[in-house]
Amino acid sequence: MSNPLAPEWLVEPTDANALAASVWSQNASRSAAGELEIASVGATSLAERFGTPVYVVDEADVKARAAGIRASFDREFARVGSSAKVYYAGKAFLSTEVARWVTEAGLNIDVASGGELAVALAAGVDPARLGLHGNNKSLVEIDRAVGVGLGAIVIDSEIEITRVADAAARHGRIQPVRLRINSGVHASTHEYLATAREDQKFGIPLADAPALVALIRARPSLQFLGLHSHIGSQIFESEGFAEAARRLFALHAELLEGGPVPELNLGGGFGIAYTSVDEPLSIDEIAVRFADIVAGGAAELGIPVPVVAIEPGRSIIGPSTTTLYTGGTIKDVLVSTGSTGEGSVRKYVSIDGGMSDNVRPSLYRADYSVRLANRSSNAAPALVRIAGKHCESGDIVVHADYLPSDVRPGDLVGVPATGAYGWAMASNCNWVPRPPVVAVRDGAARLIVRGETIEDLLARDAGRTAP
Ligand SMILES: Cc1ncc(COP(=O)(O)O)c(C=O)c1O
Repeated sequence: MSNPLAPEWLVEPTDANALAASVWSQNASRSAAGELEIASVGATSLAERFGTPVYVVDEADVKARAAGIRASFDREFARVGSSAKVYYAGKAFLSTEVARWVTEAGLNIDVASGGELAVALAAGVDPARLGLHGNNKSLVEIDRAVGVGLGAIVIDSEIEITRVADAAARHGRIQPVRLRINSGVHASTHEYLATAREDQKFGIPLADAPALVALIRARPSLQFLGLHSHIGSQIFESEGFAEAARRLFALHAELLEGGPVPELNLGGGFGIAYTSVDEPLSIDEIAVRFADIVAGGAAELGIPVPVVAIEPGRSIIGPSTTTLYTGGTIKDVLVSTGSTGEGSVRKYVSIDGGMSDNVRPSLYRADYSVRLANRSSNAAPALVRIAGKHCESGDIVVHADYLPSDVRPGDLVGVPATGAYGWAMASNCNWVPRPPVVAVRDGAARLIVRGETIEDLLARDAGRTAP
């Protein structure tokens, strides 16, 4: 029977060592001895060599997802007589190595700051394959992007038309641009909300778009590529995308009367499984639905099917990564579950990381799962909460899952699906250094981002007097 403290969706597993295929990276498995292995590299050897916490990226998993999304969108958009551009949203996780993996798989990269742009350029990515986003790009960021010859810049407000056009004129370039639209559609997992106007900082209202596109078209240093919309993250259904596309299509058709509108960018946000009950759409299914939505919309309005651009991040990098932690203190906390004073036990397993390496659970109340990594155990499952080491009660990494009840200090635990917005949003909360990122492939592990040391952090403390 499940622990009454468990959320409704969480069913006590018959085997608390099982690795749900939907949640773990493709090459995660248990050795004959019961240890977690990723791409045939054991968790214990990873911890010994790189320490914990450590982000372990299954390289073949990332490459396969990148190639898979390319193939699915190529196939489905060819079916409807068009083509698709796939940008990897670097904000989910970017390093030079990952930039090369995804571009070699045929993807472009979307960057959201001068820092991400610098990483992509340091990886040797052709600037023509980069797009730049942001609601408040600095003049320096715009100048750099235009100067290196970026493939697309997403204009997010009226003032950026002048800023990008002036930069392009200075550099003697014609800069391709998109215009980000606030479509009034917001989606998250199974829900989507459609209002006349969404209350958020990104993009410009639909109604203002024709005038702004006219301004873009009036600037000889700009080339208008088309509209852009991103409706949210961790989306499991296609209705939100369909609604946003419907709204954008009407505008797209209207704009065609004034000049070319070769592309339509529908953003990213495809959901992934963080727990065994999550059932996101497959990329194949998303590609089929997107092609149908776009072809249907074009047919209804009697316009050509545009080239569609998408910008997924999480669905490419998210499932690839497992964070390994070492378990420290363990507390059985008796929690009241009824008015008569009875209670149930929640086992708090504290680990050597937390909100500094994965802020999503405390920021968004995101759910994750956890498994013992150094061994398996036949002990009965116990409801656990994986708590971080930070001085915040909301510092939780896994709100609820089951681990074998004999979990003990020194055990390694693995939290899967941490590749997106984990390292990318990591912090030095409590002066905790950020962990390394290690790629594993075919039985070998190599560092792709070095972990910080306390020396790195202290080196920036200008008032330091003692060594
Ligand atoms: C404009 C834009 N495009 C793409 C993405 C990527 O979303 P996801 O990683 O959920 O696919 C985001 C995420 O915030 C975004 O803001």
